[in-house]
Amino acid sequence: MSEFESVGKVSDFQDNVGRAFPVNGRMVAVFKRGDQFYAIDDLCPHMGASLAEGYIEGDSVTCPWHAWRFCIKDGTWEDNPRVKVDAFEVRVVGDEVQVRVAD
Ligand code: FES
Repeated sequence: MSEFESVGKVSDFQDNVGRAFPVNGRMVAVFKRGDQFYAIDDLCPHMGASLAEGYIEGDSVTCPWHAWRFCIKDGTWEDNPRVKVDAFEVRVVGDEVQVRVAD
């Protein structure tokens, strides 16, 4: 089982602004909404844009290149829910935001 890795402090994040981090060999997009943090695969499955650069509205992030929309909670592609990007566990320990990417 892989470990949680710290990606920054709570205060490093702004609401509705994604940030991308390498975690266990994957690029992960981390989003903050209020007290909640979410983490999904940063790589858009269409042509590889960074989803952390996308526009967040509600539970969705819109890819900055061609506007595919993904749920930041579970990675579902909202235009075709049979397709998903991976979603990852996030936790806050003290003031550290931590993400776990399974091996
Ligand atoms: S690269 Fe994301 S929609 Fe095209």
